[in-house]
Amino acid sequence: MSQTLKGKHIVLGISGGIAAYKSAYLLRLLIKAGAEVQVVITPNGKEFITPATLSALSGKPVVSEFFAANTGEWHSHVDLGLWSDLMVVAPATASTIGKMASGVADNMLITTYLSAKSHVMVAPAMDLDMWSHPSTQRNIATLAKDGVEIIEPSSGELASHLVGKGRMEEPEEILRRVEKFFRRSDSLKGKKILVTAGPTYEDIDPVRFIGNSSSGKMGFAIAEEAAARGAEVVVVAGPVALQLKDSAVRRVDVRSARQMLEASQAAFEDCDAAILTAAVADYAPETCSDTKIKREKTGDMTLRLVRNPDIAATLGAMKGERMLVGFALETDHEHENALDKMRRKNLDMIVLNSLRNPLAGFNKDTNQVTILRSDGLETEYPAKSKRQVASDILDEIEKYSKRND
Ligand code: C5P
Repeated sequence: MSQTLKGKHIVLGISGGIAAYKSAYLLRLLIKAGAEVQVVITPNGKEFITPATLSALSGKPVVSEFFAANTGEWHSHVDLGLWSDLMVVAPATASTIGKMASGVADNMLITTYLSAKSHVMVAPAMDLDMWSHPSTQRNIATLAKDGVEIIEPSSGELASHLVGKGRMEEPEEILRRVEKFFRRSDSLKGKKILVTAGPTYEDIDPVRFIGNSSSGKMGFAIAEEAAARGAEVVVVAGPVALQLKDSAVRRVDVRSARQMLEASQAAFEDCDAAILTAAVADYAPETCSDTKIKREKTGDMTLRLVRNPDIAATLGAMKGERMLVGFALETDHEHENALDKMRRKNLDMIVLNSLRNPLAGFNKDTNQVTILRSDGLETEYPAKSKRQVASDILDEIEKYSKRND
């Protein structure tokens, strides 16, 4: 077997479900692929599989309690969280998923999860009714939103003899996902990527502005996914109420379209690609009053607006070999308009958000996109979490940049 995981540190979390018997085999596969694995098991997990089996396979004592029974030594979940290059929770029971989603840190598995700086995957396993219960689905959606990768359970006969969705994915498939994660984690190494995100605010006076309801979520998801693939990322963000989870991403905060243009042009100089998700205001007030504008005693008021710079078109004119990706949000003739924008702004690719789909658009955690490439290729994706959409977009960018290799 090839050593695809050589030198990688993996925390394997095992919670108390019958599928825990498969975790021994998964552990064996990870070790054979060259990974160093530390097993963390919940108290209930030990009822399904013995720590002796797991420590024999991993070559390390299994961590389960906060304190070692014989020595009283404290197990540091913080150290373990920092050691981890990847945490895989398999099986993840409904209870463990719920505790992860709400941060109920009453065992080593959850405290390790909360301390982990690395990517986390969960492979749920439970009966079909538990899986389809709204509370489980809510918790899964929360984890996906928190950036946890969900390895969906498959359908088939369950340990209860019921037939349906809830079987933990097979160890071979989980190994494949782990290998894919580590392959992906280097795929953009050495690349510099600029992402614009959020709205712009165009000030009218000290307390009023023209803006829009872009949340910045799509741009931040792309920035984090690009950083997870090893890229050096700078986000030029308009006013958004978001925090970056990845401290390696450089963030430049701006307010207006002009400021966004300036910061983006400066950053683009030494970038390999730019992904422009920002909803830039097309117009700004001609002047911004120094004092709060008073209401007129009678009648209406006119605000004169002037055209803002087009950041995408400006970068498009200077791009050379660099790759430029734009977004389009259209209410009518969406396909035609997106293609036209791609040409006009000299983009290599444009991501069309479907406004017809209720799972897509501003301030949502999900999005549904079609990616149009300047070479005519086109892919329509189903609705997914914004992080997964970010992954699809970056896959497409990587494929596009390798098309002539
Ligand atoms: O607003 P429009 O639909 O033309 O936006 C399409 C693309 O152009 C988006 O990627 C957006 O971020 C970018 N854009 C820009 N500067 C503008 C307007 C749009 O960078 N002033």
